[in-house]
Amino acid sequence: MFESFFLEIQTNGFSVIDNFIDDEALRKIANWSGSLLDSGEFKKAKLSSTKLLNEEVRSDLTYWLDPLVPTLEWTPLRDIVDLMRDGLNERFYLGLKQYECHLAHYPIGGFYSIHLDQMPTGPSRIFTFILYLNENWDDNDGGELVIYNKQEILLKKITPRGGRLVGFMSADFPHEVRVSLKARSSFSGWIHNKLLY
Ligand code: OGA
Ligand code: MN
Repeated sequence: MFESFFLEIQTNGFSVIDNFIDDEALRKIANWSGSLLDSGEFKKAKLSSTKLLNEEVRSDLTYWLDPLVPTLEWTPLRDIVDLMRDGLNERFYLGLKQYECHLAHYPIGGFYSIHLDQMPTGPSRIFTFILYLNENWDDNDGGELVIYNKQEILLKKITPRGGRLVGFMSADFPHEVRVSLKARSSFSGWIHNKLLY
């Protein structure tokens, strides 16, 4: 399931694979996310480093998935993240333990300025992954994830096409979400090398 994904991580430190899940599985997750959004469960995202609301830096809404509450929709996703974590540990000896995950929704015009996923207070977020849930996404719909190196040289521009999985080492790649011209949704998470709960 993850072979080519891991190979690219090994060479580049980041990886993009398409059709990671099939259309039916994708639709199920997208529908679930859509109904949580419709019922007002998504909240304005905070900056992970300072916990302040800051719409100049990001304008997405998130729904955090409780690791202690398994649900019909969340449990199969957890199984996938477990497999990813175990595979990463097997290949790269990262000592990954627990993870935090959320569903994210960028309204039209939403963006997230360039940032690193690691918090200044501790080297705990080790691996970042994002699975896009957008069923009909065009190259000119904006909302690209742009990955840079530490010198802020652009490495890759990624269209948030449904079923596409992106992963990278959290400490090594500053990245941004360019202004999205359509509503944009994803399932994403961070795997830590320590216990979180
Ligand atoms: C994040 C983030 C990227 C994306 O939530 O920290 O960078 O493509 N997301 O959604
Ligand atoms: Mn990020």
